[in-house]
Amino acid sequence: MKLTPEEESMLAGEQGYAVQKSMQILTALGRIFGAEKLIPVATVQISGVSYDNLGDAGLEYLRSMAADGRVRVPTTLNPAGMDLCDWRAFAIPEEFAAKQLEVVEAFKAMGVTTTCSCTPYLIGNVPQRGAHIAWGESSAVTFANSVLGARTNKEGGPSSIAAALTGRTPAYGLHLDRERAPRVWVEVTCELRTAADFGALGKVIAEQAPAQIPLISGVVCKRWDRLKALSAALATYGGASLFHIEGVTPEAGDWPRPEQSLRVDRERIERAYAELNDRPGGDRPDGDRQAAAGDDAADGEDTTNSKDRGGVDLVFLGCPHLSLDELEEIAQLLEGRTVRGELWLGIAREVKQQADASGLSARITRSGARFACDTCHVVAPLKGRFRTFATNSAKGVYYGRAKNRFRSRFGSLATCIELATREGTAQ
Ligand code: F3S
Repeated sequence: MKLTPEEESMLAGEQGYAVQKSMQILTALGRIFGAEKLIPVATVQISGVSYDNLGDAGLEYLRSMAADGRVRVPTTLNPAGMDLCDWRAFAIPEEFAAKQLEVVEAFKAMGVTTTCSCTPYLIGNVPQRGAHIAWGESSAVTFANSVLGARTNKEGGPSSIAAALTGRTPAYGLHLDRERAPRVWVEVTCELRTAADFGALGKVIAEQAPAQIPLISGVVCKRWDRLKALSAALATYGGASLFHIEGVTPEAGDWPRPEQSLRVDRERIERAYAELNDRPGGDRPDGDRQAAAGDDAADGEDTTNSKDRGGVDLVFLGCPHLSLDELEEIAQLLEGRTVRGELWLGIAREVKQQADASGLSARITRSGARFACDTCHVVAPLKGRFRTFATNSAKGVYYGRAKNRFRSRFGSLATCIELATREGTAQ
């Protein structure tokens, strides 16, 4: 790899330990992926923020980098393991909270903006078309590439920190024109009505054409809530970190239609819905890849009491984190209704503050719904606390099952609100 004199100086340790360590990580990555050089990045988004994922080893690493490392470009964080202000209200254990706050402090010492959200593009981190960035959260990476027209690979925790501390990333993968060409034409023959439909579509494409960049036709939609649902599901279920939709993806028109093709009809979307819903009592629909891979929460005897068997005890909306438009839709659906169990709304703190100022938050919380800022149902330590959850996020189902062993109900926003407010469904 060809390095500039400035980069050679970083690698030699002349700019401190954290920068040297970062440069070692970036050059090693570059060598593995055949990058010829490093390129400057405009912004960074760091994943791997929850203490639940990092553990003590991760915290120790962050402390070592924070000793002399300072970010060189605007940098934000992915969700943490708890609401950083209101964690006691969510019954987060004190010991966990203390460690999580230490994690955030370490990032703060590096100069990171300690906004914890998987939708950085909703809170001002909006790169321009063609900008090279280094983002970590998979749904945000896909959104940035596909909707904003920026360029990023899916960075891991250490490589995104390294990019922030050096302002650089290796030039390979989706940073290069030739790697952004669509490989499969996906013809959608049915109308997609909700964000849940777009999530189901992402799951279908990812499973039918794993890791292939799709050129999607038959979808006319510029709504960010739908496109972030598609981005999240595509990335989660094994798809590429980039899709092209004409009229949405800035570069979609630059490419010829690929020869390889697949068709997605309403029946296939409905099958995805069935796969994302666990039947009351435990077993998963045939053909669900996660069930086939083995998930012990779905197997064996149901040990819950008869009162809550098959019942939803948590509804989580905001995977990825909610926008103001989605909050307005939720407020309208909750009008005059009372939440019977737990309805959590995952959101960036800055978006919540805007909702507070406009009165939107008050319209929502009078139903009993709660805002969960800075966090989500996956990165928070919730294993064993809930049995069955409902969401409109296909990504949320995947990780809710895999990480916290939840059973899942998947449906539209309206269905989720109905489940959250129906008598007797939640405890
Ligand atoms: Fe965001 Fe958590 Fe979903 S990080 S995309 S809300 S799994």
